[in-house]
Amino acid sequence: MSDISDTTKGTRPDAANGTTPATTNGMVTAMTPDRAMVNVTGRCNSRCSYCMAWREDRTAGEPTLEELLHIVEHAAKLGCKAVGFSGGEPLLRGDLEDIIRHVKSLGMYPALVTNGVLLTEKRVRSLAAAGIGSLSMSLDTLDADLYQAIRGIPLKQPMEHLLAAAALKLMPMGISVTVSARNVHSLDSLVEFAGMHGLLVSFQLYADDVHLANADASQMPEWQSLEAAAERLITLKEQGAPVTNSPEYLRSMAAFVREGAWLGLGRCLGPQREICIDEALNLVTCWGMDRKIGSLRDADLTTLWRSEEFAKARRELAGCRRCLLSCHFENSLRLLAMEEAATAGDKA
Ligand SMILES: C[S@@+](CC[C@H](N)C(=O)[O-])C[C@H]1O[C@@H](n2cnc3c(N)ncnc32)[C@H](O)[C@@H]1O
Ligand code: SF4
Ligand code: SF4
Repeated sequence: MSDISDTTKGTRPDAANGTTPATTNGMVTAMTPDRAMVNVTGRCNSRCSYCMAWREDRTAGEPTLEELLHIVEHAAKLGCKAVGFSGGEPLLRGDLEDIIRHVKSLGMYPALVTNGVLLTEKRVRSLAAAGIGSLSMSLDTLDADLYQAIRGIPLKQPMEHLLAAAALKLMPMGISVTVSARNVHSLDSLVEFAGMHGLLVSFQLYADDVHLANADASQMPEWQSLEAAAERLITLKEQGAPVTNSPEYLRSMAAFVREGAWLGLGRCLGPQREICIDEALNLVTCWGMDRKIGSLRDADLTTLWRSEEFAKARRELAGCRRCLLSCHFENSLRLLAMEEAATAGDKA
């Protein structure tokens, strides 16, 4: 559920390189994916209150290195430009660098989101040598007690790792903030912290019924607090702070809680343009729900991506507004703007 949308800035509009999504009589058919998001493990060494990863034993279906290398080859052939690694905790895999190297050799942009526990200086150098494009660490607060309450482990080690990694300046780095009732009033301090250390900062609203979420509606902030927080964050962004979210996303947080509505996004392109692979190697429609298209142990990625089963799911999800995951929202906004620009260019 990480937002790597900012990592693909500068890529040409799909229409310009001949990979415009295919449609037949306006019906969605096989789509050219923009990027893949792969949960490389279900294991975790953290204890976050809003996440299911550590509560269940997910060791059984862990993808092998060979399976993952094969999958990213299919992703490249399908047209993906970037691959984001998540989990569980992706740094628990000692072979992550092998996968990153392969992604890079296939001409795609590898990105990673981590809890930071294993982000030692040695590991940062190893990730950089493998060719990681960018790296984000999840950090919801600077307050040690609050961090422990939200994420279930002490802040000390991830914070030391983050500061040491940022000082190395080996790759663009950011912090990923999950916005909940507990931290909604202190988001500005994270923006200030990011600015001081040369980090980007992205926000994602807590979700109580998405893939891996630990359903707990009490963690959802009140819309009034979100509205106030969004306006402050937009002002800071306008003043040059390194907030990667769009104003549309930030304003949608309050609207989503208040009335289940987005602001400024026409439609979600998640199932059309983003490959999502879960920690047990299932291709899923998106991270906004647990809808599996099939196991990548029974069929290859290309076959499942182009399958009738997925086409049916895409038809059913046309117009879906069920979640406000920033990864899908921000990338949809970017892709729709590119489509619009390409259409305007064709007409000119
Ligand atoms: C599932 S984690 C996996 C990667 C890594 N373990 C980490 O925590 O960064 C990816 C991101 O999803 C966020 N997340 C987890 N549960 C969430 C939820 N219920 N709603 C919104 N974001 C959530 C995490 O805070 C983290 O930034
Ligand atoms: S959010 Fe990340 S670190 Fe926290 S329990 Fe889930 S997978 Fe682990
Ligand atoms: S809005 Fe719907 S289709 Fe889009 S990611 Fe969320 S659940 Fe999936």
